[in-house]
Order: sequence, then structure tokens, then C-alpha cells
Amino acid sequence: MVVSNSRALKDEFIPKEVVHRDSELQVLADNLRPVIKGGEGIDSLLFGPPGTGKTCTARYLLRKLNQESPEVRFHYINCWENYTRFKILYEALRGIGKTLTVHRQSTPTDKLYTVLKENTSRPYVIVLDEFDQIDEEEALYDLYSLPNTTLVLIANHSTALHSLEDRIRSRLMGCERIEYEKYSSDQIFEILKKRAEVGIREKIDEKILRKIALSSEGDARVGISILRTSAMKAESKGVKISSELVNKCIPDAKKEKKKKDFEKLNRHQKVLHGIIKDKGEVKPAELYSEYNKKVEEPKSERSLRKYLKKMGHYNLIDVEGEGRWRVYKSKK
Ligand SMILES: Nc1ncnc2c1ncn2[C@@H]1O[C@H](COP(=O)(O)OP(=O)(O)OP(=O)(O)O)[C@@H](O)[C@H]1O
Ligand SMILES: [Mg+2]
Repeated sequence: MVVSNSRALKDEFIPKEVVHRDSELQVLADNLRPVIKGGEGIDSLLFGPPGTGKTCTARYLLRKLNQESPEVRFHYINCWENYTRFKILYEALRGIGKTLTVHRQSTPTDKLYTVLKENTSRPYVIVLDEFDQIDEEEALYDLYSLPNTTLVLIANHSTALHSLEDRIRSRLMGCERIEYEKYSSDQIFEILKKRAEVGIREKIDEKILRKIALSSEGDARVGISILRTSAMKAESKGVKISSELVNKCIPDAKKEKKKKDFEKLNRHQKVLHGIIKDKGEVKPAELYSEYNKKVEEPKSERSLRKYLKKMGHYNLIDVEGEGRWRVYKSKK
């Protein structure tokens, strides 16, 4: 057996130890500290490229704070999956165990908000991961206006705030920004080393881990994906994890990550992606007009720009030029 703990090799795994993110964790912990004393914390925005540990540090800290002060309420919401106002408010209610009175089909969304408001007399921290995927931005306004509620927003870029509707933007612009920079290859190496210690039975040659780290290009998720793919392949073949095996797994792991990122796209993003792929290269006006022909209830251009930006961050398309010179290109 090569793998000792397959859960530890997954993306969603929250490690016991987070390395190289001390200052980011410190700022976030300071912002949330008032919550422990029954007060309201400072809203934060964590931003940075994919695979820089934003989700992992936020969840790690939530878990730690919850262990220290079980009476403080925390909840993590992934906005890729929960992008409507109803779903977000429902999740926020779920976090405080108040969904019993809510019927998924028939309860009006405003009612969810009323129930939430009645139940936030005690501090509540809500993490909105990938908040730039939210379709109905009113939900952000709702959560922002709740009493005793502190928000932790996560996105790839601080400009995610700029694309919000004026009324919401002007309120959220005040949150403290915490930037996550790309990891160096040495930092990824250490992350992988710790992960391998938990997830893989035998000690892996450091040279192999360094090779994986180098191929990750600063994205810890890519590194972990290569480690997982290699471990699984070694296990199925009944061999050790060797340098040759890793070489073979690198393209598979990268493909797997791309596929996962693609699957997360919403219906509208998939239509946009399809048009860009067919055309190879397309200007915004043509892209929007093609999109409008294909979709029954088309989204506004503002939403489409937001969607496209996100797809660019995930490297699913290339976005080049600004304003009228902008072009969207499909990936080779
Ligand atoms: N500093 C770290 N210490 C230990 N593990 C880490 C660290 N940073 C990232 N990881 C691990 O790397 C993987 C990717 O990290 P994470 O999901 O937090 O990235 P992200 O910044 O949220 O990326 P994205 O923008 O794509 O959502 C996760 O499995 C996470 O546990
Ligand atoms: Mg994340």
C-alpha cells in the first residue's frame, strides 16, 4: 500500500499545520478576535491567484477558533455551488441550525433574511469563498447588514470588489484586504512534504518532491494533484513512487485540475467557453451577441464580464487587451 490516508491527498483536506502563511493568518485572526469576546470583527477580503492557500487558511482558522471558543458561530459557504440569494441565505441559516422552518421550494427569500436577522443576536462569522461567483449580489448586501456578523470574503483578485453594484461595493470597499502571493517552489516543496507525511506510507525521495514542486508553478493545488495522481498510480501498479512515474503523471494531473475547474463553471460560463473555443478568438461585442442567441434568459453584460474574468483567472481562457481592444482567446 502506497497511500496511508487518501483524504489527506484531496484538495479539500484541511491540514493540521499551515506553513508559510503566518502573517496572513495573523491579520485574519486579529480581525476575527473581537468575535471571541462577543463583539463584531473586521470584515476581510482574502485575494490571490489559484492555489495560494486562501480557502485552506480560512477554514483552518475557523476550525481553530471554533475549538478555542465553541460558542462562537462560524460557517463556510462556497459560492461556486451557492450562487443565488436563496442558496446563500439558506446556507447562512444552516450554519446556525435554523433551516427547520424553511421549505426549499416555497419559502420566499425575504423570509430567510428575516429569520436570519432574528437569529444573529450572537456573533457569527461567515466565509464567502469565491464570492465573485455570486449571481444575485443582493445576498452580499443582506449578509453585510446582519447584526453581529463578520464576513470573510475570498476571491482571486481584489478588483472583484470593483465589479459589484455601487450600493454593495461602497459598503464592502471598507474591508481589510489580505493579499496571498504565489508560492515559491521551495514553499510548495514544504507543503508537499508535510502532505506526503500524512497521506503516503513511505518516505518519498526529496528530489521527487522538488520535481513536483517545480512543475506546480506556484499553485499548491497543482502540486497536491500531481502527488495524489502519482500515489494512486503507484498503488494501482504495485510500485514505488519514482521520478519516471511522476513525469508521466504531471500532464494527467494538470489535465485533471483543468477539468475540475471547467466543471465548476456555471451554465452561462460554459456557453461563453464554448463560443470562445469554437471561434478561437473573439471580441466582447461578438461574444455577447453569440451568447444572447444561445441562451434563453441571458445575463447582463456586467455579469458576463465578471464570469469571463473569473475564467481568465482559472486559466480556462486567455483574456488580452483592455476596453475596446479586449479579446478572449481559447487555450491551446
Ligand atoms: N500554506 C499551506 N500549508 C499547507 N497546505 C496548503 C497551504 N496552502 C495551500 N495548501 C493546500 O493546497 C491546496 C490548495 O490550496 P487552497 O485550496 O487553499 O488554494 P486557494 O488559494 O483557495 O485556490 P483557489 O483560488 O483556486 O480556490 C489545498 O489542498 C490546501 O490544503
Ligand atoms: Mg479556494
